[in-house]
Amino acid sequence: MTRTVIVLAAGEGKRMKSDLPKMLHPLLGRSLVGHVLAAAAPLGAERTLAVVGNRADQVTAHLAEIAPEVSTALQAQQNGTGHAVRIALEALGDVAGTVVVLNGDVPLLRPETLQALVEAHENASAAATVLGAEVPNPTGLGRLVRDADGGLARIVEERDATPEQRAIREINAGIYAFDAAALRAALAKLTTDNDQGEEYLTDVFALFVAEGSPVRVHLAADAVETLGCNDRAELASLRALLRDRINLDLMRSGVTIIDPATTWVDVTATVERDALLEPNVQLRGASSVASGAVVGPDVTLIDTSVGEQAQVVRAHAVQAEIGPNVSVGPYAYLRPGARIARKGKVGTFVEIKNASLGEGTKVPHLTYVGDATIGEHTNIGAGNLFANYSGTTKSHTTIGSHVKTSCDTTFVAPVTIGDGAYTAAGSVIGKDVPPGALAVARAHQRNIEGWVQRTRGGTASAEAAERALKEQAGEEG
Ligand code: UD1
Ligand code: CA
Repeated sequence: MTRTVIVLAAGEGKRMKSDLPKMLHPLLGRSLVGHVLAAAAPLGAERTLAVVGNRADQVTAHLAEIAPEVSTALQAQQNGTGHAVRIALEALGDVAGTVVVLNGDVPLLRPETLQALVEAHENASAAATVLGAEVPNPTGLGRLVRDADGGLARIVEERDATPEQRAIREINAGIYAFDAAALRAALAKLTTDNDQGEEYLTDVFALFVAEGSPVRVHLAADAVETLGCNDRAELASLRALLRDRINLDLMRSGVTIIDPATTWVDVTATVERDALLEPNVQLRGASSVASGAVVGPDVTLIDTSVGEQAQVVRAHAVQAEIGPNVSVGPYAYLRPGARIARKGKVGTFVEIKNASLGEGTKVPHLTYVGDATIGEHTNIGAGNLFANYSGTTKSHTTIGSHVKTSCDTTFVAPVTIGDGAYTAAGSVIGKDVPPGALAVARAHQRNIEGWVQRTRGGTASAEAAERALKEQAGEEG
C-alpha cells in the first residue's frame, strides 16, 4: 500500500508566547516537529509533506535542515485542520493508498504505535482510523463520541460539545490514517458550521459514518504518547516524560543511572552498557558514552564522545573527543576540536580548544591549550598558557612526546618544542626548542639584601627577617 504522510504545522502556537514557532521548540535532541517526523519515518512513506503557515519561512528552513526529503505546502490562512489537509492533498496531486495525518506537536508518539495504527487501518480497509486515548483530563481536546454499538459516531470539539459529550474522557490525539480517495471526497464536503468557523478535519468521520464507510478508533496503550504541547509548562512536562522514557530504556539496556530525575539524555545520544551516569548529567546532540565510562556529577556533553573506562567529572564539553581511560575534571572545559587520546588527563581549571593530546599526555592544572598538537606522554605543568592569538590571526603550537613543561610556561605561537625537551618555570617560549633541550626564558633573579629592614623597618616582616638573620649568624658563629 502506498503511504503518504502529512504533518500539520501551520498553526500559530500562540500560547507558547515565543518568537520561535512552536514546532521548532527543542525537546531533548529534536524539535517538536522533528520528533513527529522521526515517529513517522519507519512507515516508509513515499512522500512526506508539511503544511506550513505561521512563520512559514522559519519552519520551512528548519525542515530543509532536519528532513530535506519533506516538501511543504503553504496554508496562508489557518482556516482549520480540514482546510490544511485539503491544501496538502492539492499540493500532492493524485495520491492513492493511505494518507497518514499528524499534528506537528505530539512529540511523544512512538513509531511502533503509529505503525500499529496504520497497519490496523490498512488491514481493515477502513476509510479512516483515529488514534484515541483515555485521559484523566480531556479539557480542550476533541472527544470520540461512540454510537449505541460502541462504534465511532463522530468527533466533537470541546467548544461544540454538549455537557454529556464533554464528560467523555476518550479523546482524539490528532493522529489519523485515511484512505486517500475517501479523504479527498469527504474534504470537499466540509462546512465551517462550528463555533470557530473553521473546516474541521475531524468532521470527515461523521461524513464517513453517514455514508456507511468503515471508521475505526485505534487506542494508544499509553495515553502519554498522545500529549500535545500548547505552552511552556506543557513543554516542560513533556520533556520530563521523555527524559524518564529515555532513562528507562538506558537502564534496561545496562546503563547505571544514579539519579534519573537529574539525568537528561537527548534521543540522539548513545550510552553503552556498564557506563555509569552520576547525578546532574546532560548528554546532548550526537554525544556518546562508551562502556565502563563514568560521567558526572555535573557534566554537560554536547556532540562529544567518551571512550571506554574514561572518567569525566564536573565538566563542560562541546564537539570534543575524550578517549578511552582518559580522566577529565573536576572543572574542565573542552571546546570544539579538543581530542584527548587514550590514558590522557585534563585536570582542574583547564580549557582546551582545537588541540590534540597524544596517548598518556597530561594537562593537570590551571591551563589554557588552544590550537596545538601535543605528542605522547608529555606533561604540561601547572599554569601553562598557549598564546595562540595575535589579535588578528591564530597560530599553532606543536609539542613533541615525553616533553615536560614546568609551571607557568607561556608558548607564543607559532612555536615547536622537540621530543624530550623541558622548559623552566616561568618561561615565555617564542622560539623553537630542539629535542632534549631545557628552554629557560625568564629574567635572572636578583636579591636586594636588607631591603625590607631598610624600607619597611618596624613591620612584622622586618622583625621576622632580623630574627632569622640573627639565628643564622648564631648558627654560623
Ligand atoms: C485538534 C483536533 C482535536 C484534537 C486535537 C489534538 C480538529 C478540528 N481538532 O484540535 O480534535 O483533540 O487537535 O491535539 O482538528 N493546523 C494547521 N492549520 C490550521 C489549523 C491547525 O496546520 O488551519 C495545525 C496546527 O499547527 C497543529 C494541528 O494542526 O499542528 C492541530 O491544530 P490545533 O489548533 O492545535 O488543533 P486543536 O484545536 O488542538
Ligand atoms: Ca492542539
